[in-house]
Amino acid sequence: MQGVRRLLRQVYYRLRAERPASWWGKFMLAWRYDCHVSPRAYVYQPRRIRLAKDVEVQDRALLNFHSTKGSGVNLTIGAHTRILPEAKLIPQGGSITIGEHCTVQYGTLLYGEGGLTIGDNTRIAAYCVIAPMNHVYADPKTPIRLQGETAKGIRIGRDVWLGNGVRVVDGVEIGDGCVVGAGSVVTKSLPPYSIAVGSPARVIKRRE
Ligand SMILES: CC(C)(COP(=O)(O)OP(=O)(O)OC[C@H]1O[C@@H](n2cnc3c(N)ncnc32)[C@H](O)[C@@H]1OP(=O)(O)O)[C@@H](O)C(=O)NCCC(=O)NCCS
Repeated sequence: MQGVRRLLRQVYYRLRAERPASWWGKFMLAWRYDCHVSPRAYVYQPRRIRLAKDVEVQDRALLNFHSTKGSGVNLTIGAHTRILPEAKLIPQGGSITIGEHCTVQYGTLLYGEGGLTIGDNTRIAAYCVIAPMNHVYADPKTPIRLQGETAKGIRIGRDVWLGNGVRVVDGVEIGDGCVVGAGSVVTKSLPPYSIAVGSPARVIKRRE
């Protein structure tokens, strides 16, 4: 009896699992926007994705995995922007909007819960994590998973450079032209053209 239950559970898991777009689905997405979507990328819910001319979604990039079901566009990528292998763009219940001529490098993880916008010409180096969401943890007697979430959103301006491994927390605005040093954790908004480093990130100089 236990074996049958196990088997049924396995069938249920497989039926419930999200299925990525087929080779044809990815080809049609690329065709529609006149851009490149690698046949080896993992693309979910392609109808909710808006690309533009000359976007490059490279091998093993992951788009829209585990985003809530819906009909509206939740992931927008501007012209000439490159999404490199192992980068993961996960809007969840929110949205991610990336401008033109940006790069999202290897292994970077972008969430969109409270809304994430990234301006034109911005470079996001490898293994950054940007998460516009926090768990509520005020009540120590209730598990954090039951206390809900807050999500204000993150805005990253134009011509920003985030070094390798930068983390950005919810509610932060990184102004146009900022540079953030490798490994920094940005917990407060940065005025335009700041150079900030460390955890928490502090402005050490300005670009002007
Ligand atoms: C932020 C950065 C651009 C600053 O370069 P810079 O303008 O030449 O600045 P400096 O090297 O003169 O450093 C200024 C100070 O900040 C410190 N600093 C620089 N980068 C830092 C970092 N990532 N974390 C903590 N402190 C840092 C330096 O130690 C120095 O401190 P000091 O004045 O006490 O000696 C550079 O250090 C950096 O982190 N680059 C990112 C590299 C990267 O991720 N490349 C990926 C390619 S896409």
